[in-house]
Amino acid sequence: MEIGVVGATGLVGNALVKEIIEHVTLPYGLHLFGRNDTELYVNKSHFPVHSIEQLLKCPLDVVLFATPPEISRKWIPLIQSNARAFIIDGSSAFRQKNDIPLIIPEINSETKALCSQCVSSPNCTTTLALMALHPLHKLYGLKSFSLCSYQAASGAGRKGYTELIDQCNAWVSHKDLGTPLAFPKTLLFNAIPQIGAFDAQGVSEEERKILLESRKILRLPKLEVFATCVRIPALTCHSIAISATFDQKISLEQAQKALQEAPGVRFYEKNYPDVYCAMNDSLCHVGRLRWDTTRPNTLALWVVGNQLLKGSATNMRQILELKMQQALKKS
Ligand SMILES: NC(=O)c1ccc[n+]([C@@H]2O[C@H](COP(=O)([O-])OP(=O)(O)OC[C@H]3O[C@@H](n4cnc5c(N)ncnc54)[C@H](OP(=O)(O)O)[C@@H]3O)[C@@H](O)[C@H]2O)c1
Repeated sequence: MEIGVVGATGLVGNALVKEIIEHVTLPYGLHLFGRNDTELYVNKSHFPVHSIEQLLKCPLDVVLFATPPEISRKWIPLIQSNARAFIIDGSSAFRQKNDIPLIIPEINSETKALCSQCVSSPNCTTTLALMALHPLHKLYGLKSFSLCSYQAASGAGRKGYTELIDQCNAWVSHKDLGTPLAFPKTLLFNAIPQIGAFDAQGVSEEERKILLESRKILRLPKLEVFATCVRIPALTCHSIAISATFDQKISLEQAQKALQEAPGVRFYEKNYPDVYCAMNDSLCHVGRLRWDTTRPNTLALWVVGNQLLKGSATNMRQILELKMQQALKKS
Protein backbone atom coordinates (compact mmCIF):
# COMPACT_ATOMS: atom_id res chain seq x y z
CA MET A 1 0.00 0.00 0.00
CA GLU A 2 1.37 3.43 -0.97
CA ILE A 3 0.91 5.95 1.86
CA GLY A 4 1.27 9.73 1.59
CA VAL A 5 1.74 12.09 4.56
CA VAL A 6 1.03 15.75 3.78
CA GLY A 7 2.40 18.32 6.25
CA ALA A 8 5.18 15.92 7.21
CA THR A 9 7.45 18.76 8.40
CA GLY A 10 4.96 19.96 11.04
CA LEU A 11 4.63 18.74 14.63
CA VAL A 12 1.74 16.34 13.95
CA GLY A 13 3.21 15.25 10.58
CA ASN A 14 6.57 14.48 12.16
CA ALA A 15 4.93 12.44 14.94
CA LEU A 16 2.81 10.67 12.31
CA VAL A 17 5.83 9.60 10.24
CA LYS A 18 7.44 8.24 13.42
CA GLU A 19 4.21 6.42 14.37
CA ILE A 20 3.97 4.79 10.94
CA ILE A 21 7.62 3.70 10.94
CA GLU A 22 7.43 2.33 14.47
CA HIS A 23 4.00 0.67 14.45
CA VAL A 24 2.73 -0.29 11.00
CA THR A 25 3.66 -3.90 10.32
CA LEU A 26 1.83 -4.51 7.02
CA PRO A 27 3.93 -3.68 3.92
CA TYR A 28 3.81 -0.07 2.66
CA GLY A 29 5.67 2.61 0.72
CA LEU A 30 5.93 6.04 2.39
CA HIS A 31 5.80 9.36 0.50
CA LEU A 32 6.13 12.66 2.33
CA PHE A 33 4.87 16.08 1.25
CA GLY A 34 5.31 19.58 2.64
CA ARG A 35 5.22 23.19 1.62
CA ASN A 36 8.61 22.88 -0.18
CA ASP A 37 11.04 20.18 -1.36
CA THR A 38 13.15 19.35 1.68
CA GLU A 39 14.26 16.47 3.93
CA LEU A 40 12.95 15.06 7.19
CA TYR A 41 15.19 13.36 9.77
CA VAL A 42 13.21 10.75 11.73
CA ASN A 43 14.50 7.74 13.72
CA LYS A 44 18.06 8.27 12.47
CA SER A 45 17.04 8.25 8.79
CA HIS A 46 16.62 10.99 6.20
CA PHE A 47 13.40 11.01 4.17
CA PRO A 48 12.81 13.18 1.10
CA VAL A 49 9.86 15.58 1.41
CA HIS A 50 8.27 16.63 -1.88
CA SER A 51 6.46 19.89 -2.43
CA ILE A 52 2.68 19.59 -2.13
CA GLU A 53 2.37 20.32 -5.88
CA GLN A 54 3.74 16.78 -6.51
CA LEU A 55 0.83 15.21 -4.62
CA LEU A 56 -1.42 14.55 -7.60
CA LYS A 57 1.42 13.05 -9.64
CA CYS A 58 2.07 10.28 -7.12
CA PRO A 59 -0.28 7.24 -7.18
CA LEU A 60 -1.28 6.78 -3.54
CA ASP A 61 -3.71 4.40 -1.79
CA VAL A 62 -4.01 6.39 1.46
CA VAL A 63 -3.22 10.06 2.09
CA LEU A 64 -2.97 11.47 5.62
CA PHE A 65 -3.25 15.25 6.00
CA ALA A 66 -1.44 16.88 8.94
CA THR A 67 -1.95 20.38 7.57
CA PRO A 68 -3.84 23.54 8.56
CA PRO A 69 -7.57 23.32 7.66
CA GLU A 70 -7.25 25.69 4.70
CA ILE A 71 -4.66 23.38 3.07
CA SER A 72 -6.86 20.30 3.66
CA ARG A 73 -9.83 22.22 2.22
CA LYS A 74 -7.90 23.02 -0.94
CA TRP A 75 -6.16 19.69 -1.60
CA ILE A 76 -8.57 16.99 -0.40
CA PRO A 77 -11.27 17.77 -3.03
CA LEU A 78 -8.54 17.79 -5.69
CA ILE A 79 -7.41 14.30 -4.67
CA GLN A 80 -11.01 13.11 -4.51
CA SER A 81 -11.71 14.26 -8.06
CA ASN A 82 -8.44 12.84 -9.45
CA ALA A 83 -7.84 9.60 -7.60
CA ARG A 84 -9.44 6.94 -5.46
CA ALA A 85 -7.15 7.27 -2.45
CA PHE A 86 -8.58 6.92 1.07
CA ILE A 87 -8.03 10.18 2.98
CA ILE A 88 -7.49 10.70 6.71
CA ASP A 89 -7.63 14.39 7.63
CA GLY A 90 -6.20 15.56 10.95
CA SER A 91 -7.49 19.11 10.57
CA SER A 92 -10.86 20.58 11.52
CA ALA A 93 -11.77 21.25 7.84
CA PHE A 94 -14.41 18.52 7.39
CA ARG A 95 -15.13 17.28 10.91
CA GLN A 96 -18.68 18.60 10.93
CA LYS A 97 -19.65 17.34 7.47
CA ASN A 98 -22.42 14.75 7.73
CA ASP A 99 -20.88 12.41 5.15
CA ILE A 100 -17.40 12.46 6.73
CA PRO A 101 -16.97 10.11 9.71
CA LEU A 102 -15.11 11.49 12.74
CA ILE A 103 -13.23 8.53 14.17
CA ILE A 104 -11.64 7.52 17.45
CA PRO A 105 -10.85 3.82 16.85
CA GLU A 106 -11.55 2.78 20.47
CA ILE A 107 -15.03 4.36 20.23
CA ASN A 108 -16.54 4.38 16.73
CA SER A 109 -14.48 2.64 14.06
CA GLU A 110 -17.32 0.68 12.44
CA THR A 111 -16.47 -0.94 9.08
CA LYS A 112 -19.02 1.31 7.37
CA ALA A 113 -17.10 4.42 8.44
CA LEU A 114 -13.94 3.11 6.77
CA CYS A 115 -15.81 2.70 3.46
CA SER A 116 -16.17 6.46 3.19
CA GLN A 117 -13.49 8.00 0.92
CA CYS A 118 -12.50 10.58 3.51
CA VAL A 119 -12.55 10.46 7.32
CA SER A 120 -11.50 13.02 9.93
CA SER A 121 -9.52 12.62 13.13
CA PRO A 122 -11.01 14.70 15.97
CA ASN A 123 -9.76 17.68 17.93
CA CYS A 124 -7.07 16.66 20.43
CA THR A 125 -8.88 17.78 23.61
CA THR A 126 -12.08 16.11 22.45
CA THR A 127 -10.24 12.83 21.80
CA LEU A 128 -8.58 12.77 25.21
CA ALA A 129 -11.80 13.70 27.06
CA LEU A 130 -13.87 11.07 25.21
CA MET A 131 -11.27 8.33 25.70
CA ALA A 132 -11.89 8.78 29.44
CA LEU A 133 -15.65 9.34 29.24
CA HIS A 134 -16.63 6.63 26.74
CA PRO A 135 -16.07 3.62 29.07
CA LEU A 136 -18.32 5.35 31.64
CA HIS A 137 -20.87 6.36 28.99
CA LYS A 138 -21.22 2.68 27.99
CA LEU A 139 -22.18 1.83 31.58
CA TYR A 140 -24.26 4.79 32.69
CA GLY A 141 -25.25 6.88 29.65
CA LEU A 142 -23.58 10.29 29.43
CA LYS A 143 -26.00 13.16 29.97
CA SER A 144 -23.70 16.18 30.08
CA PHE A 145 -20.18 17.18 30.99
CA SER A 146 -18.23 20.29 31.78
CA LEU A 147 -14.49 20.61 31.51
CA CYS A 148 -11.62 22.97 32.01
CA SER A 149 -8.59 22.20 29.84
CA TYR A 150 -4.97 23.22 30.39
CA GLN A 151 -3.45 23.03 26.92
CA ALA A 152 0.20 22.96 25.84
CA ALA A 153 1.88 25.43 23.48
CA SER A 154 2.52 22.71 20.86
CA GLY A 155 -1.25 22.43 20.42
CA ALA A 156 -0.82 25.55 18.27
CA GLY A 157 1.73 23.78 16.04
CA ARG A 158 5.41 24.52 15.55
CA LYS A 159 4.90 28.29 15.78
CA GLY A 160 3.35 27.91 19.27
CA TYR A 161 6.09 25.56 20.48
CA THR A 162 8.84 27.85 19.15
CA GLU A 163 7.26 30.99 20.62
CA LEU A 164 7.26 29.50 24.13
CA ILE A 165 10.89 28.29 23.82
CA ASP A 166 11.94 31.73 22.51
CA GLN A 167 10.21 33.42 25.47
CA CYS A 168 12.02 31.04 27.89
CA ASN A 169 15.38 31.85 26.27
CA ALA A 170 14.64 35.59 26.32
CA TRP A 171 13.69 35.39 30.02
CA VAL A 172 16.91 33.62 31.08
CA SER A 173 19.02 36.09 29.09
CA HIS A 174 17.14 39.10 30.56
CA LYS A 175 15.87 40.09 27.09
CA ASP A 176 12.51 41.44 26.01
CA LEU A 177 9.96 38.61 25.62
CA GLY A 178 8.87 40.02 22.24
CA THR A 179 5.41 40.50 20.80
CA PRO A 180 3.28 37.32 20.97
CA LEU A 181 2.25 36.04 17.54
CA ALA A 182 1.09 32.45 18.05
CA PHE A 183 -1.05 33.30 21.11
CA PRO A 184 -3.22 36.31 22.02
CA LYS A 185 -0.93 37.17 24.96
CA THR A 186 2.56 36.30 26.23
CA LEU A 187 2.35 32.63 27.25
CA LEU A 188 5.41 32.35 29.50
CA PHE A 189 4.30 32.20 33.19
CA ASN A 190 0.72 32.87 32.05
CA ALA A 191 -2.65 31.10 31.66
CA ILE A 192 -4.66 32.35 28.66
CA PRO A 193 -8.39 31.48 28.63
CA GLN A 194 -8.68 31.77 24.85
CA ILE A 195 -7.97 29.12 22.20
CA GLY A 196 -9.23 30.38 18.85
CA ALA A 197 -11.63 33.23 18.20
CA PHE A 198 -14.68 33.88 20.41
CA ASP A 199 -18.16 33.67 18.85
CA ALA A 200 -21.04 36.05 19.65
CA GLN A 201 -21.84 34.02 22.80
CA GLY A 202 -18.25 34.30 24.07
CA VAL A 203 -17.45 30.65 23.28
CA SER A 204 -13.99 30.02 21.81
CA GLU A 205 -13.38 27.93 18.67
CA GLU A 206 -11.76 25.15 20.71
CA GLU A 207 -14.70 25.09 23.15
CA ARG A 208 -17.16 24.92 20.23
CA LYS A 209 -15.23 22.00 18.66
CA ILE A 210 -15.43 20.01 21.90
CA LEU A 211 -19.22 20.43 22.03
CA LEU A 212 -19.93 19.60 18.36
CA GLU A 213 -17.37 16.82 17.99
CA SER A 214 -18.42 15.06 21.21
CA ARG A 215 -22.03 15.05 20.01
CA LYS A 216 -21.03 13.63 16.62
CA ILE A 217 -18.62 10.93 17.88
CA LEU A 218 -20.92 9.68 20.65
CA ARG A 219 -24.02 10.09 18.45
CA LEU A 220 -25.66 12.15 21.19
CA PRO A 221 -27.03 15.22 19.34
CA LYS A 222 -28.49 16.70 22.53
CA LEU A 223 -25.44 16.15 24.75
CA GLU A 224 -24.80 19.25 26.87
CA VAL A 225 -21.13 20.24 27.07
CA PHE A 226 -19.66 23.27 28.79
CA ALA A 227 -15.94 23.83 28.19
CA THR A 228 -13.37 26.42 29.23
CA CYS A 229 -10.12 25.96 27.32
CA VAL A 230 -6.96 27.53 28.70
CA ARG A 231 -3.51 27.72 27.12
CA ILE A 232 -0.72 27.16 29.65
CA PRO A 233 3.07 27.28 29.26
CA ALA A 234 3.55 23.49 29.03
CA LEU A 235 5.42 22.42 25.88
CA THR A 236 3.40 19.29 25.28
CA CYS A 237 0.32 17.39 26.66
CA HIS A 238 -3.13 18.66 27.46
CA SER A 239 -4.57 18.23 30.97
CA ILE A 240 -8.34 18.27 31.51
CA ALA A 241 -10.50 18.53 34.64
CA ILE A 242 -13.87 16.94 33.79
CA SER A 243 -17.14 16.73 35.64
CA ALA A 244 -19.60 14.34 33.94
CA THR A 245 -23.24 13.67 34.74
CA PHE A 246 -24.82 10.34 33.77
CA ASP A 247 -28.40 9.11 33.30
CA GLN A 248 -28.01 6.11 35.56
CA LYS A 249 -26.93 5.47 39.11
CA ILE A 250 -23.16 5.00 39.38
CA SER A 251 -21.03 2.58 41.33
CA LEU A 252 -17.63 4.17 41.95
CA GLU A 253 -15.96 0.73 42.11
CA GLN A 254 -17.51 -0.32 38.80
CA ALA A 255 -16.53 3.01 37.17
CA GLN A 256 -12.97 2.49 38.39
CA LYS A 257 -12.89 -1.04 36.97
CA ALA A 258 -14.21 0.18 33.60
CA LEU A 259 -11.41 2.74 33.38
CA GLN A 260 -8.80 0.18 34.47
CA GLU A 261 -9.91 -2.14 31.66
CA ALA A 262 -10.49 0.46 28.93
CA PRO A 263 -8.13 0.09 25.92
CA GLY A 264 -5.79 3.07 25.52
CA VAL A 265 -6.43 4.30 29.09
CA ARG A 266 -4.07 4.16 32.09
CA PHE A 267 -5.99 4.57 35.31
CA TYR A 268 -4.37 5.88 38.49
CA GLU A 269 -6.17 4.59 41.56
CA LYS A 270 -4.04 6.31 44.18
CA ASN A 271 -1.65 8.82 42.63
CA TYR A 272 -2.63 11.10 39.74
CA PRO A 273 -1.10 11.67 36.28
CA ASP A 274 0.72 14.82 35.22
CA VAL A 275 2.45 15.97 32.03
CA TYR A 276 5.63 14.03 32.83
CA CYS A 277 3.61 10.78 33.13
CA ALA A 278 1.96 11.32 29.76
CA MET A 279 4.51 13.01 27.49
CA ASN A 280 6.21 9.86 26.17
CA ASP A 281 3.29 7.62 25.32
CA SER A 282 -0.01 7.48 23.45
CA LEU A 283 -2.21 6.65 26.42
CA CYS A 284 -4.98 8.68 27.96
CA HIS A 285 -3.97 8.96 31.63
CA VAL A 286 -6.88 9.23 34.07
CA GLY A 287 -6.84 9.87 37.81
CA ARG A 288 -8.60 11.64 40.70
CA LEU A 289 -11.86 9.78 40.01
CA ARG A 290 -14.29 10.96 42.67
CA TRP A 291 -17.84 12.14 43.24
CA ASP A 292 -18.82 15.61 42.15
CA THR A 293 -21.25 16.34 44.96
CA THR A 294 -22.82 19.38 43.29
CA ARG A 295 -25.14 17.15 41.18
CA PRO A 296 -26.53 13.60 41.36
CA ASN A 297 -24.90 10.81 39.27
CA THR A 298 -21.88 12.99 38.64
CA LEU A 299 -18.21 11.99 38.57
CA ALA A 300 -15.11 14.18 38.48
CA LEU A 301 -11.89 13.07 36.81
CA TRP A 302 -8.48 14.38 35.81
CA VAL A 303 -7.22 13.45 32.34
CA VAL A 304 -3.77 13.99 30.80
CA GLY A 305 -2.53 12.93 27.36
CA ASN A 306 -0.01 13.77 24.69
CA GLN A 307 -2.13 15.75 22.23
CA LEU A 308 0.40 15.21 19.42
CA LEU A 309 0.09 11.42 19.85
CA LYS A 310 -3.33 10.06 20.88
CA GLY A 311 -4.73 13.56 20.29
CA SER A 312 -3.67 13.40 16.62
CA ALA A 313 -0.83 11.28 15.12
CA THR A 314 -1.56 8.01 16.98
CA ASN A 315 -5.28 8.29 16.29
CA MET A 316 -4.56 8.85 12.57
CA ARG A 317 -2.12 5.91 12.45
CA GLN A 318 -4.70 3.67 14.15
CA ILE A 319 -7.29 4.60 11.48
CA LEU A 320 -4.67 3.91 8.79
CA GLU A 321 -4.00 0.44 10.21
CA LEU A 322 -7.72 -0.36 10.34
CA LYS A 323 -7.99 0.64 6.68
CA MET A 324 -4.96 -1.48 5.75
CA GLN A 325 -6.44 -4.50 7.55
CA GLN A 326 -9.77 -3.95 5.80
CA ALA A 327 -8.02 -3.79 2.39
CA LEU A 328 -6.07 -6.95 3.19
CA LYS A 329 -9.27 -8.85 4.07
CA LYS A 330 -10.89 -7.73 0.80
CA SER A 331 -7.93 -8.80 -1.39
N1 LIG B 1 -0.60 20.42 17.25
C1 LIG B 1 -1.55 19.66 17.80
O1 LIG B 1 -1.49 19.30 18.99
C2 LIG B 1 -2.71 19.18 16.97
C3 LIG B 1 -3.60 18.25 17.53
C4 LIG B 1 -4.69 17.81 16.77
C5 LIG B 1 -4.86 18.28 15.49
N2 LIG B 1 -3.99 19.20 14.98
C6 LIG B 1 -4.21 19.68 13.62
O2 LIG B 1 -3.21 19.07 12.78
C7 LIG B 1 -2.87 19.96 11.73
C8 LIG B 1 -1.35 20.17 11.75
O3 LIG B 1 -1.02 20.78 12.98
P1 LIG B 1 0.51 20.97 13.47
O4 LIG B 1 0.39 21.29 14.90
O5 LIG B 1 1.36 19.84 13.03
O6 LIG B 1 0.90 22.31 12.67
P2 LIG B 1 2.38 22.77 12.18
O7 LIG B 1 3.42 22.27 13.13
O8 LIG B 1 2.26 24.21 11.95
O9 LIG B 1 2.55 22.00 10.78
C9 LIG B 1 1.75 22.32 9.65
C10 LIG B 1 2.24 21.55 8.44
O10 LIG B 1 1.50 21.99 7.29
C11 LIG B 1 2.42 22.49 6.30
N3 LIG B 1 1.88 23.63 5.58
C12 LIG B 1 1.47 24.82 6.08
N4 LIG B 1 1.07 25.65 5.08
C13 LIG B 1 1.25 24.97 3.94
C14 LIG B 1 1.04 25.27 2.56
N5 LIG B 1 0.56 26.46 2.18
N6 LIG B 1 1.31 24.31 1.64
C15 LIG B 1 1.80 23.13 2.00
N7 LIG B 1 2.04 22.76 3.29
C16 LIG B 1 1.78 23.68 4.24
C17 LIG B 1 3.63 22.93 7.10
O11 LIG B 1 4.78 23.04 6.25
P3 LIG B 1 6.04 23.92 6.75
O12 LIG B 1 6.73 23.08 7.78
O13 LIG B 1 6.86 24.11 5.53
O14 LIG B 1 5.49 25.20 7.30
C18 LIG B 1 3.72 21.79 8.11
O15 LIG B 1 4.27 20.64 7.50
C19 LIG B 1 -3.68 21.25 11.96
O16 LIG B 1 -4.86 21.21 11.20
C20 LIG B 1 -4.01 21.17 13.44
O17 LIG B 1 -5.19 21.87 13.78
C21 LIG B 1 -2.91 19.65 15.68
